[in-house]
Order: sequence, then C-alpha cells, then structure tokens
Amino acid sequence: MAKLKVGVLISGRGSNMASLVRAAWEEDYPAEIACVVSNAADAPGVKIARDAGIATAVIPHGDYPDRETFERAVTAELDKHGVRLVALAGFMRVLSPWFPQYWQGRILNIHPSLLPAFKGLDAQRKAIDAGARVSGCTVHFVVPEIDGGPIVAQAAVRVLAGDTADTLANRILQQEHRLYPLVVRWFAEGRLRQKDGRVEVTGVPPGATLLFSEEP
Ligand code: GRF
Repeated sequence: MAKLKVGVLISGRGSNMASLVRAAWEEDYPAEIACVVSNAADAPGVKIARDAGIATAVIPHGDYPDRETFERAVTAELDKHGVRLVALAGFMRVLSPWFPQYWQGRILNIHPSLLPAFKGLDAQRKAIDAGARVSGCTVHFVVPEIDGGPIVAQAAVRVLAGDTADTLANRILQQEHRLYPLVVRWFAEGRLRQKDGRVEVTGVPPGATLLFSEEP
C-alpha cells in the first residue's frame, strides 16, 4: 500500500524529526518522510535529514513580508512533495491562522508538557517552577491557538527531586521519540477521528494513548 507522505517542519536540533525518519525506515511503517523544511539555515536537523537522504528545503522566514506569505511558500514546498500530513517538530515560528486552517486535520505538533499545562516556551522549566510531580509530552492537532489543539496522545514523565530543566527535558525527549512515531503511525493508518474537539483513536488497546516513561 502507498505510504502516507509526511512533511516535517523544524527550526533546530531535529531529534524528533530524526525519530520519525528512523521509524519510517521500518518496512511495515505506513508513512514516509517526504521532505523536511526548516526556517533556519543553520538548524542542525537540516544536515541530519540531508545525510539521511531526505529532501530538505530551507525557507528563511525573514525573506518574506509577513507570516502568511512565508507559510504559503512552505506550503508550496510541502505540496511539491505530495505531503498529506505536516508534523511540526521543534518549529519555532508562531503561525498565522492561515497555515493551520489550510492544513486542518492534517497537522500535528509535539509539545514537551502534559497539555493543557505549561503551554509555550520553556515548558520543562515551567513544570519544575510550579512544583509539578509529573510532566511529559503531548502530540496534538494544530489549531490557530498556540499549543491549543485536540490532544491525540501523551507520555507521562515523573519530575524527580533535583531535576533541572535540562535533566527533565532530556527524559521527556526520550518519550517524545516514542510518542511521535506512534501517533504518526496511527494517523497514517486512518485511526484518528476528531469529534466535538476531542480525538478518538480507533482499533488500539485501551490506554494506548497514554505512555509512561517507567514502562517499556
Ligand atoms: C522538543 O522538545 C519538542 O517537544 C518541542 O521542541 C523540541 C524540539 O526538539 N516542540 P528537536 O528539535 O526535535 O530535537
């Protein structure tokens, strides 16, 4: 069966993108990474993708007069590669409403907290500062409100005494690398349905949409 073509948008390190690329190397994985687009020329993830043989494009947002014009250029690149699902993976540009509306129901993001807690930047630091005992990561559909779309799946990570933002971020990141490929698989298998602002995942075992870092 034809694999779902995924376009990944990055701005930096690209470790989530790399986890999707690795997952897609598996023969039975139902999606392929059709292209990686970065708004930052110096994003280390661009080299990682290129070295992995993935089509890459750098589209500097500063070359465009406004957000929507930039996003239309990104969309043209994604369309050129036949992309059917956009995966935001550390893409550090605030979107205009146009982009999530154009890709409505076909755009996911990963965020390093258990949404709706700790939206925005520095989510791991916010969890520590709040004294949270548990944090984690969330994959959600993207809507115009930042980090506000319907939740697909989450992974829970215990906050340890003595954690710094970095140590917590590293443990959350390990779970991000499990969670994102799983959700993209479900999307490609047609298992995700949005209903009344919530996401139903069909044909998976009960509880499969919540991972725990302390379980394999
Ligand atoms: C991740 O923590 C992700 O949740 C957040 O930005 C970070 C990107 O890391 N949206 P990487 O570029 O995927 O390594």
